Amino acid sequence: MKIDAVIFGASGYGGGELLRWLSTHPNVASIRGTSRSRAGKPFWDTHPNLRGVVDGTFEAEIDWKSLGTSEQTVVFSALPHGELAKTLPSLEKSWRNERLLLVDLSTDFRASQDFVYGLPEWNREAILGAKPIASPGCFATALQLGLLPLRGLDVGFIAATAVTGSSGSGASASATTHHPARANDFRAYKILAHQHMAEVTAAMKACDINGSLSFVPQSGPFVRGIFATLQFAPLAKVDLHALAAEAFAGSSFVRLVEDSPRISAVVGSNFADVGIVEGEGSAAIMVALDNLGKGMASQAVQSMNIALGLPETTGLWTPGRFPA
Ligand SMILES: NC(=O)c1ccc[n+]([C@@H]2O[C@H](COP(=O)([O-])OP(=O)(O)OC[C@H]3O[C@@H](n4cnc5c(N)ncnc54)[C@H](OP(=O)(O)O)[C@@H]3O)[C@@H](O)[C@H]2O)c1
Repeated sequence: MKIDAVIFGASGYGGGELLRWLSTHPNVASIRGTSRSRAGKPFWDTHPNLRGVVDGTFEAEIDWKSLGTSEQTVVFSALPHGELAKTLPSLEKSWRNERLLLVDLSTDFRASQDFVYGLPEWNREAILGAKPIASPGCFATALQLGLLPLRGLDVGFIAATAVTGSSGSGASASATTHHPARANDFRAYKILAHQHMAEVTAAMKACDINGSLSFVPQSGPFVRGIFATLQFAPLAKVDLHALAAEAFAGSSFVRLVEDSPRISAVVGSNFADVGIVEGEGSAAIMVALDNLGKGMASQAVQSMNIALGLPETTGLWTPGRFPA
């Protein structure tokens, strides 16, 4: 199968990662990308790692009418929240074109009945043949992977934290996200009020996990990666390691590790490492992933592979770059 890929928001961090992953994907024949501020400039001007490897220039806009005319077009939207949602309804016919697969990486359609939620380890069957896909957020991916071994259980209260690197805030710096403010700091933010919680609690419900979850996101002094920890009271007669092995059987990109997973082992890859520790008074499930990889761009490519009937690992079977 020959894929023509289009990236909306190709100059952002997620867009750059999509360019990187798609440029070595064996089925991808061409890649186009949009940016309003970089239109006419080569991709490598913004993403210097792509110089000499990925040809092409940013386009201010791509007409939807020109899409979906090749054997298979895949549109990845890596725009800020709300931007795709503004235009999609008026382009109904174009994006429902049978030769066009749309994968949105923002929160816009994660709760929509029209879009399939793109977390392969949870709903691989639904993604197979799906047309529009809403790819999960980075925190949501980490938390949901941590929750999957708990399917069908009465867990009670789960205290969750997740620390993210600075690339989680995108390419434009703000007062709290630019380097001097973050480099030697560590803090919590959006405490008990993060926007990704809705998709996580919806997943808990769908997975029949009986309990409540409180979440404290934290901002760490590194660029890429998320490290999530879920803590809860020990569950009687439950072998968490066995449940995790069952939950992730057939999931090529989830690796069960002894003790603590490490961000440095997954950065630059589509892997998520999961560690479980069961103590006397509590149990902990820890998940490490790359927020721009399994938390975003490479996960979107994984969903594309599944949706199009390609082997899930196509173009993604690459280890992280330890040390990060
Ligand atoms: N960063 C992460 O770890 C992460 C993880 C999961 C999901 N996401 C989600 O993925 C999306 C992209 O995130 P990102 O981190 O890659 O963001 P980013 O680095 O800020 O990039 C945003 C991209 O969208 C374009 N853009 C900005 N405002 C626009 C507008 N009003 N209309 C059209 N284009 C616009 C930008 O280029 P121009 O301004 O030049 O047009 C840029 O190419 C967001 O919805 C984000 O929440 C991010």
